[in-house]
Amino acid sequence: MPVDQLNRPLKDLRISVTDRCNFRCPYCMPAELYGKRYQFLPKSQVMTFEETTRLTGIFVGLGATKLRLTGGEPLVRTDISTLVGMLSSIKGVEDIAMTTNGYLLAQHAQALKDAGLHRVTVSLDSLDDEVFRKLNGRDFGVGKVLEGIQSASDAGLTPIKINSVVMKGVNDTTVADLARWCKENGYIARFIEYMDVGNLNDWQSDQVVSATEILERIDAELPLEATEPNYPGEVAKRWRYKDGSGEVGVIASVSVPFCGDCTRARLSTDGNLFTCLFGSVGLDLLGPMRNGASDAEVAGLINGTWSARTDRYSELRASMHQPLSVEAKPQPQPKIEMFKIGG
Ligand code: GTP
Ligand code: 5AD
Ligand code: SF4
Ligand code: SF4
Repeated sequence: MPVDQLNRPLKDLRISVTDRCNFRCPYCMPAELYGKRYQFLPKSQVMTFEETTRLTGIFVGLGATKLRLTGGEPLVRTDISTLVGMLSSIKGVEDIAMTTNGYLLAQHAQALKDAGLHRVTVSLDSLDDEVFRKLNGRDFGVGKVLEGIQSASDAGLTPIKINSVVMKGVNDTTVADLARWCKENGYIARFIEYMDVGNLNDWQSDQVVSATEILERIDAELPLEATEPNYPGEVAKRWRYKDGSGEVGVIASVSVPFCGDCTRARLSTDGNLFTCLFGSVGLDLLGPMRNGASDAEVAGLINGTWSARTDRYSELRASMHQPLSVEAKPQPQPKIEMFKIGG
């Protein structure tokens, strides 16, 4: 099994199944930049289910046991449950999750469960309808997402996690309400520091609400205490409610980076391997596969790239901006956009 230059094995594979999305969140695909004329990948460049399954099998052979389907929005990919079924039959896969915006979840939840999906993480930035409408960039109300979450819960796609990106002056005042709602419904709320992913969201460090501030806002209404990670290298730092009624996570990739334990590989919609969320160039795996490369040859390509991996973007950002400043972005090349490799 390969380990990288910082001794990190490859344990998780995050697969982007489409670069399309029915939302236009300003921190990911700002509506003014991704309008009707934006060219998404043509179908010929998108991995087929067979290709995705074959590549995933090769990653599993190299040590990956956790899979996460992402997008764009994975539920806009036609027949996505069929892919889930194909992936869940790969021997060695221990966990299959999906990150979705939840808008189409009500109609898919049961089929996803039946196909072998274990759990979903739903992105929901606020329960406040007005704030939510602004944050999805499409003026969609929050009702359909709440129905989707309920359907996922009914179907047993649990534990359900609710991801919320917190932006200063946009949804920071609704953090405690969302935490309370998750607590009351048995969902795990996870608050994410706004990150400088991609090139087009015009990220400014003063828009970041730090994990400390997020926790203070929740703790003021619902007292919290720190708890242990579920597994080494867990992305979210966990806190539990002192009344014993559940937990909340914060993903502090800006203020407390966690690159040291990063075991995540990302596969873009067009079959490129990215070894960091902030990477610029991927390793094309689909091309060689379509040109007849054997599984062993593709595994050799992955192995070579993973063994040479030195990525620790978030740690470099933290040490280079003290305090955080946009001027000092450590990577001059354009970064991959988040919707092309998922979160
Ligand atoms: P679990 O398996 O449920 O623990 O999920 P996870 O920890 O992989 O978290 P999830 O996929 O829900 O990720 C939540 C968010 O954390 C993502 O949407 C990203 O915004 C951020 N994130 C996940 N992985 C990374 C990473 O490797 N680096 C950075 N900087 N952020 C990440
Ligand atoms: N910063 C932090 N999280 C982000 N996501 C998308 N863009 C950003 C960003 N700039 C998260 C979404 C979703 C997942 C797909 O990625 O909230 O949970
Ligand atoms: Fe779509 Fe998710 Fe990006 Fe929002 S964060 S635009 S839901 S891919
Ligand atoms: Fe991993 Fe890159 Fe995120 Fe660091 S910044 S945790 S190396 S994906």
